[in-house]
Amino acid sequence: MQKIIILDTTLRDGEQAPGNSMLAYEKTEMALQLEKLGVDVIEAGFAAASPDDAESVKQIAAIIKNATVCSLSRCKKEDIDIAYEALKGAVKSRLHLFLATSPLHMQYKLELTEQEVLDKIDTSVRYARSLFSEVQFSCEDATRSNRDFLLKAIEVAIGAGAQIIGIPDTVGYSFPEEIKELFQLVSERFPGVVFSAHCHNDLGLAVANTLAAIEGGAKQIDCTVNGIGERAGNTALEEVVLALHTRKDHYDVENGIVLKQISPTSQMLTALTGTKIAANKPIVGKNVFLHESGIHQHGILQHRSTYEILDPSELGIVQNNIVLGKHSGKHALYEYLSSMDIRVSDEELNDLFERFKLLADKKKIVTHKDIMYLISHGHNVKIARLYSLESYSIITVKGSSAVATLKLKTGDEIKIGEGSGDGPLDAAFKTINRIIGKDFMLLDWSSSAITEGEDALGAATLRLEYKGKKVTGRGVSTDTVEASILAYVNACNKILQ
Ligand code: KIV
Ligand code: ZN
Repeated sequence: MQKIIILDTTLRDGEQAPGNSMLAYEKTEMALQLEKLGVDVIEAGFAAASPDDAESVKQIAAIIKNATVCSLSRCKKEDIDIAYEALKGAVKSRLHLFLATSPLHMQYKLELTEQEVLDKIDTSVRYARSLFSEVQFSCEDATRSNRDFLLKAIEVAIGAGAQIIGIPDTVGYSFPEEIKELFQLVSERFPGVVFSAHCHNDLGLAVANTLAAIEGGAKQIDCTVNGIGERAGNTALEEVVLALHTRKDHYDVENGIVLKQISPTSQMLTALTGTKIAANKPIVGKNVFLHESGIHQHGILQHRSTYEILDPSELGIVQNNIVLGKHSGKHALYEYLSSMDIRVSDEELNDLFERFKLLADKKKIVTHKDIMYLISHGHNVKIARLYSLESYSIITVKGSSAVATLKLKTGDEIKIGEGSGDGPLDAAFKTINRIIGKDFMLLDWSSSAITEGEDALGAATLRLEYKGKKVTGRGVSTDTVEASILAYVNACNKILQ
């Protein structure tokens, strides 16, 4: 059976889309999860884009053992050198060069002639191959490129040493039959070369186009978790993988994805970026295994396959409930995590247990979902807790400003502040700014109940900006105001760190 190589670009194409930015340690956490998920190549970033990007590529290269770590690069010597420095600690590395080949891009963006583009491809791929044993070259906007010129560009890239050729549908313009035909053409013309599909979702066709590319002979597909990415996003990894899995009868291909890690990976990304997915998002949306209509419920009770083609437990979705209670000790928590194949360090376990106890006191019964959220919203261990919330009180009276009093702990000192604002959260956030002495700017905020019932756990996610740096803060509590204050303090700590 043909093995399809999965290149995950969540940390590059995904991360570059608005609202998905992550700090270096968040990216390394995600990269470790992607490795657990079984992706073959992790596109860790675009090293030359900024020193922060180079640093996170370097950190990911240092910790990933099984997957290939890859950096995107323009066809420029400086970019290639920066990527080389960032990737040199990797067990397996790949450089991913790109240059546009469509008339539109060449004329208006690059301002280069066809010959100049071919020369650049040749020089850059040759130089890249002198440093890297594996080089991918992608013809940006390939699907809107002139066919003969596209074939010429591919020939030059292969001649210069590229082993993998990307055929991106950069603006999500193509239809499945066109993509299939294009992949058939290039695969027949250049046998033995790995052609990669990189589809954007502007017309909602990214997954369909990626499947069509496989039918046409693509041996690598580029995907992102939850389909995040520029504009309408990229091919959603979980969707394409589940399509291949569910319709094995149609696709005679295999891949290395560990299905049980699909749901944990999706949840981790949501927690790290704060970008929620739609309830009806295929595979990982919260409604995907809910049945409201009586006829459907009846059918499901008789035989699950009447209305479900996917098995949630296969995807790591735990639908159970009570797992631990207020009397459970640290050992029980550890045992539970191990049974779910979740590994934590001693330090992480201590932190998690502290937060678990607080929650169990309030909720009595702690569910799998609660634990997952405590884990994914509690990436605080690696953030210096420069400030932590001691206590707060907020008074709101209809028709007048809310007044907040907060106590924050920093080192051994307790700092108290008071402030007023337009509603309880505005008052609390302004007070935190006053205590810390910085003008952090709130970009967006959202909160949602993450578990069911009266004592549901609420998660608040917000983004703060300070001097151009944007971070995501998260907080979890049974009280939305407290969750929001915790999220704000969490974001402040990230910025200050
Ligand atoms: O969409 C695209 O064309 C890309 C390339 C840079 C590979 O992301
Ligand atoms: Zn792209």
